[in-house]
Amino acid sequence: MSYQFLTVERRDAVEYVTLNRPDVRNAFNELVIADLVAWAKSAHQNPPRVVVLAGAGKVFSAGADAAWMAKMADYSREDNVLDARAAAEMFLAINTVPCIVIGRIHGAALGGGSGLAAVCDIVVTDADAIFGFTETKLGILPAMISPYVLQKIGASAARELFLTGMRFTAAKAKEIGLVHAVVPMADLDEAVGNYIKEALSASPTAVARSKALIPNVLGKLPADVINITADAIATQRVSPEGQEGLKAFLVKRPPSWTVKN
Ligand code: COA
Repeated sequence: MSYQFLTVERRDAVEYVTLNRPDVRNAFNELVIADLVAWAKSAHQNPPRVVVLAGAGKVFSAGADAAWMAKMADYSREDNVLDARAAAEMFLAINTVPCIVIGRIHGAALGGGSGLAAVCDIVVTDADAIFGFTETKLGILPAMISPYVLQKIGASAARELFLTGMRFTAAKAKEIGLVHAVVPMADLDEAVGNYIKEALSASPTAVARSKALIPNVLGKLPADVINITADAIATQRVSPEGQEGLKAFLVKRPPSWTVKN
């Protein structure tokens, strides 16, 4: 598949997906969104074991393209809503890719760029990167990213950061749960590599089902999810990978899905 503003490279079990519109700091318009949706669809059909989502050039992503947003004033209300729904579908499609998605953030992740971080499973950032839900500073709001960001940072941090639009540090991004590891830029790829190694020793079906389980359980009462949780483990432990993993552990050998990286 070919993309206009993405580079996608599969190296063994790992797919490297790089936003490639560096002149505007990987800001995304309808064309970038179409690329990301097409990629996410292909990843749903034929998932790699791990995805690394990164940005080309100086920063990870400056979020939504301000020029694209501004021209919506020339659209009908219906077309405006359809266009916004396409962006919402993009975040949903990335959020549900059935494998481990690692965000590799450098420089800046602002607006929808921080939203892209929120739909990654693991986020590793350069310690000097800046973050922000800057939309209110531009007179707009962080709408389509809000469900994913809220799940990561909660309402308290969202009220502070969505409402002010203030920029914040990588350290703060970690404190509020948006990112998982903060390292010097020189160590960024090594830190991503360490997560890749961990990911490649996890069972692919167990990863996919664990990822699907989280939204099914989140926010519900424990008693209300007994059917879901019991069904999940009852299915997985008798599955080929469940059996392989348990037996491999008992005889002290690596399971068959382990990939050395
Ligand atoms: N939409 C459209 N264009 C953008 C953009 C965006 N979100 N972010 C940056 N650009 C463009 C700039 O207008 C500039 O274009 P020009 O070369 O024609 O002047 C170019 O990208 C480079 O931007 P610049 O600000 O000079 O780069 P920088 O490396 O000094 O700073 C950022 C990078 C990301 C820190 C800075 O561009 C920025 O703060 N962008 C706005 C991010 C934001 O608030 N996003 C939320 C959008 S809803």
